[in-house]
Amino acid sequence: MCKSYPNTRMRRNRSSKFIRNLIRETSFSADDLIYPIFILPGKNKEEPIDSMPGKKRYSVDKLVPILGKLHKKGLNAIALFPVVGETKKSQDAEEAFNPKGLVQTAVKIIKKEYPDLGIITDVALDPYTLSGHDGLVDKNGYVLNDQTVKVLTKQALSHAEAGADIVAPSDMMDGRILAIRNTLEKNKFHNTKILSYAAKYASNLYGPFRNAVDSSTNLKDSSKETYQMDFANISEASLEISLDINEGADMIIIKPGLPYLDIVSKIKNKFSIPIFSYHVSGEYSMIKSAALKNYIDEKSSVLEAMYCFKRAGCNGVLTYYTPEILEWLDKK
Ligand code: PBG
Repeated sequence: MCKSYPNTRMRRNRSSKFIRNLIRETSFSADDLIYPIFILPGKNKEEPIDSMPGKKRYSVDKLVPILGKLHKKGLNAIALFPVVGETKKSQDAEEAFNPKGLVQTAVKIIKKEYPDLGIITDVALDPYTLSGHDGLVDKNGYVLNDQTVKVLTKQALSHAEAGADIVAPSDMMDGRILAIRNTLEKNKFHNTKILSYAAKYASNLYGPFRNAVDSSTNLKDSSKETYQMDFANISEASLEISLDINEGADMIIIKPGLPYLDIVSKIKNKFSIPIFSYHVSGEYSMIKSAALKNYIDEKSSVLEAMYCFKRAGCNGVLTYYTPEILEWLDKK
């Protein structure tokens, strides 16, 4: 039997709120959110981020009460990004694995205060290198793979020792997941999870982040295209992800967010591993700027974006909009 108009009227199931609720195919809640936060050394510091209107960088003492309030509203996990200052940057990025470094200290303090809050740390050297690159560079400025992996491994171990629940390598070096996994196992961190930025594209949407962590001045005109993926590629993402799964990743990130949902959807159908998407700084700033000019409605546009991530197959999303979303969900 051919089911067609008027037997089938697609608008019947859209005619009132309750039926729309009943047939909704994806759900979204506070549990799906990871809040990326920029942290500063020192005390009592709070600085606005010019490239990300409405967002700030905080010293850890200032951050703790903020996290307390958000945690009460359902904040489930955070991702920490340090801004260490020029004096802590070096050629060999040793500060990255300093047990008393900014990230390591922050993890200890936050974990003690809120043991149930998931803490994700970034494993990459860009906050610590003079070049602003995610790895160590040779005299020609080429990012060295195997030497970098050694440092990343020490960095990841120092995060695990501080109490990080999840270490998230965002550097795109080859073989780093295996090296980190072996080190974590050897040191009995059997439950420390690895969230691999398995498919991270050399995107133009990271600009505001580089300004927020102060790596843009160091990076100058240099690009990350010798390690991050070409945005024209999709098959390559499958290969990257299968390698990281084999090396021991527990979860993966596809980054950036909305313009890359085709990758999420493809990967979701191919691998049974949790997938997260990073709604990156440029995406935040685009929505924010349009909202500030009243060109779009901020709340409904952001919530729509979150459903799009879920519809594409993401288990969760890293988004700078987390505090605002928690507030909106609270009031619903
Ligand atoms: C670098 C890193 C970047 C982001 C997270 N980790 C920037 C880069 O690769 O240059 C970008 C996040 C964002 O734009 O919000 N390890």
